[in-house]
Order: sequence, then structure tokens, then C-alpha cells
Amino acid sequence: MRRARGLFVAGTDTGVGKTFVSVGLIQGLVAVGHRVAAMKPIAAGCEQTPAGLRNDDARALMSVANVAAPYERVNPYALPLAASPHLAAREAGVVIDLRTIRLQFDLLAAEADAIVVEGAGGWLAPITDTETMADVAHALELPVLLVVGVRLGCLNHALLSAQAIAAGGAHLLGWIANCTDPMMPLRDANIATLAQRWGQDPLAVVAPQIAFARRSGALGADWLKASRALDHALTLYLTENRISP
Ligand SMILES: Nc1ncnc2c1ncn2[C@@H]1O[C@H](COP(=O)(O)OP(=O)(O)OP(=O)(O)O)[C@@H](O)[C@H]1O
Ligand SMILES: [Mg+2]
Repeated sequence: MRRARGLFVAGTDTGVGKTFVSVGLIQGLVAVGHRVAAMKPIAAGCEQTPAGLRNDDARALMSVANVAAPYERVNPYALPLAASPHLAAREAGVVIDLRTIRLQFDLLAAEADAIVVEGAGGWLAPITDTETMADVAHALELPVLLVVGVRLGCLNHALLSAQAIAAGGAHLLGWIANCTDPMMPLRDANIATLAQRWGQDPLAVVAPQIAFARRSGALGADWLKASRALDHALTLYLTENRISP
């Protein structure tokens, strides 16, 4: 099967901006002419609607992706409770099966040039009694984009995440410094610390957005630049690993 350029969006924690960054990157990839699919394979925290359980992240990703897909394909595991996925699944009487996620991913990827998959929580968030989000990235054979929520404590979280990503044999394609806290002291020095340790500048530094810009969904020039950098990193990764897109 033809393979789309895929990417797993991980975060240094929950609430660090994985969805925010994924939405921006998808908009950028669409703007440069790609057919882009999105996936939130496991979502814990869903509302009951007449159509079934729905999650805000999955809906946000679907609203900007330009490959149409049924909701259940984008978000095969929609769990009502906003809790760790393995506990939310247990509460719902659901067993998360990586083969189901892979099946839906393959169907989506077949229609797309690029596919952006958002994890839930951090890299080692448990999804079953034995598996974590890392196993989802592994099952989908995707390189990882790490969203670093730039706030106090982020250096520890970022370094631990990168170490765990490497230890599990996944490839850290790049990282994004997402600055959610306008008051954070020494923000640039924190970002420079990670760049120096990883020998890799962030694909983008996202400034704290004011509420209006966040709601308006306007495509900023930075997202175009970040998407181009991401596209380039993916091309290098695919070439170096001899994966034909
Ligand atoms: N750069 C930013 N500036 C201001 N607010 C931001 C920024 N990035 C994210 N946010 C806000 O922070 C909140 C958390 O972001 P987001 O939902 O993208 O995190 P997440 O990592 O996807 O969380 P989850 O683990 O629940 O999926 C949201 O309200 C989002 O709008
Ligand atoms: Mg999210």
C-alpha cells in the first residue's frame, strides 16, 4: 500500500498544545497543496451527542484536515471519561487494540499525502494494562514531533520524553517550542538549552497567542514556515530510511 507522510504528535505532558500545534501544521500543509488526514486514535474526555461520543481534539483536527473521513476512523477510541486512557477505557468496558488503530490509520493514509496523528497525554501515557502511547506510535511506524510546552519544569519533561522516545526505538523528527505562558522568565534561554542539548533548533517557536487569534483560526505565516520545515524533515527522514512515500 502507498504510504502517506505520517507524523506522530507527542507532547511533554497533557495540555501543552498538541492539538493547537497539530491544527496549525495541518493548515500549513493544506495551504502548500497537500491532501492531509488527521487522527486522534484515543481520546479520553468525550461528550455524548446524537451521533455518538465526540471529542473536541478530534473535531478540531477534522475541521482543518482536507481528507474527509467518518468520525470513527479519525477517533476509533472515544472514551467518555477525561482520565488516563487505560482507566477511561476500563471504565467504559473497552479494550484498546492497536490493530484496530492501525487498520483505521491505513484506510486514512491511503487517501492522503500526509497524516498527522495526535497522541493523548504524554509519551508514556498508559493505554492498556501493559501498553502506552509509545506503542501507538510504534504500531503506526511513525516518526515523532515533540511539542514542548514551554513553562517551568519543561526542561526535565522534554529531556525525559526525548530519552524515552529514543529508548523505544522511535525517531524524534523534530520539536516545537510552544510558549503558552506569556509571563515565563528566561523563555528563550530555556528553548536554547534544549536546542543545544539536542543539537537541533525547534521547527517553530510558537508565541503565546491571545484569545482572539486562537479563536479566529487565522493561518499565520509562522505555520506555513513550520509546515515547510516539517515537510523537509519528513522528506529527509523518508529518504534516509528508504521509505517510499
Ligand atoms: N501558544 C499558545 N498560546 C496560548 N494558548 C495556547 C497555546 N498553545 C495552546 N494553548 C491553549 O492551551 C490549551 C491546551 O492546548 P491543547 O488542547 O492544544 O493541548 P494538548 O496537548 O492537545 O492537550 P491534551 O493532552 O488534552 O490533548 C488550549 O486551551 C489551547 O488553546
Ligand atoms: Mg489535544
